[in-house]
Parts: sequence; structure tokens; C-alpha cells
Amino acid sequence: MKANRIAVFASGRGSNFQALVEAQRKGLLGAEIRLLVCDKPEAPVVELAKAADVDVFVFQPKAYASKEAYEREIVTELDRRDVDLLVLAGYMRLLSPSFVETYSGRIVNIHPSLLPAFPGKDAIGQAIEYGVKMTGVTVHFVDGGMDTGPVIAQRAVEVREGDDAAALAERIHEVEQKLYYEVVSWFAEGRVSLNGRHVTIADKVQEVEH
Ligand code: GAR
Repeated sequence: MKANRIAVFASGRGSNFQALVEAQRKGLLGAEIRLLVCDKPEAPVVELAKAADVDVFVFQPKAYASKEAYEREIVTELDRRDVDLLVLAGYMRLLSPSFVETYSGRIVNIHPSLLPAFPGKDAIGQAIEYGVKMTGVTVHFVDGGMDTGPVIAQRAVEVREGDDAAALAERIHEVEQKLYYEVVSWFAEGRVSLNGRHVTIADKVQEVEH
């Protein structure tokens, strides 16, 4: 699957969004960020998008009668910009089954643990609480469940003695910011394929000099 016109969905700080913007600026993303979708008007990520000249669709879920109602507007905004990959980066809202179905195989998410361990909220706090020695980052396709879709890439991060959630989060975020743009670039190069639950990343085609 080849995709290079992306929309980023985010709800908060936007460090992953910003890393994608910077990768695009440096020519490392291979894709164009056409839209930020945000469900929190006051989120810092909205200002980051404006500063980067990225179109923003920001909405208040409470102002709509239903999830389907605001998702219809999201679809209109995505269609208008011909978006072909939806990149969730700290979007803290479940998408409806029909939305996921519409974009099946075209929605990816980043999660701060080695899934299937510690799905859902506060994955970093859950890892500290559990006492694991190793956690990490997962990029996966989004399916109808909570952090259950096919895994595209994972990176391990060691939990050090004395780590609290903030210390561990700092190292996890660093890894996320390097991994996410790389995964998006794989889509841009058409290297990602999905077969059931299994994702394969084709080797990069080397340019041959004549
Ligand atoms: C990231 O750590 C991301 O993995 C996490 O939210 C954070 C957003 O940070 N996502 C989830 O927990 C999804 N279940 P950011 O706004 O600075 O990119």
C-alpha cells in the first residue's frame, strides 16, 4: 500500500505531531501532512499546527449529537484534501466502527508500550506499576478494538531502577519521535503490506546509478 497524503489526529501536547512536521521539513517523511484533526480546542498541538502552516480541523465533541455526527465532518475534511493515511498521535478518543471500516488498513496509531502489554490509558504508569524491566513503543494498524490492531513496528525501552513515570516517559517519547516518521515514510514508499494480522515491510528499493 502506498500512501503519502496524511492527516494527523491528536488531542494533546503534540510532540509526535511536531516530530512529523520536522521530518517533513527535512525531507525524511516522504509524505505531506495535509490536516491536523483535534478534539480539544485548547490543546497545544493546535498552535503547533498553525505555526507549521498545517490546516486544522478542531471540534468540540460535546457540541455534536453523536460521534457519527462529528466523524461525518471529519470525513468531509479528509476527502476535501484527498488524505490517504490517518496517523493517530495521542488521539484520546475511540473511532466508531463504521469510521474504522471506511478507512480500513489506512489508520495507524502509536502507543507507549510493547503491545499487547498495557493497552489503553496511562500505559507508562501501568508499566511502572507492574514492575516490568522492559517496555517500549508500538506502531499498529487501528481495528475495532482498543490498541488491538496488527503491529507494524516496535522498539524496546528499558525501565531503569528508580524510574518514575515522568523519567520513563521522556525516554519513550524520544523513541516515539524517531520511530513514527520512519513508519510513515515506509507507507510513502509503498513498503507496508498487511496479511491478516501480519505486517511485512518490504526492503527499500535501491536506486541504481547508470
Ligand atoms: C504519546 O506518548 C502516545 O504514544 C500516546 O499519547 C502520547 C501523545 O503525546 N498515545 C496513547 O497513549 C494512545 N493509547 P504527544 O501529544 O506529545 O504526541
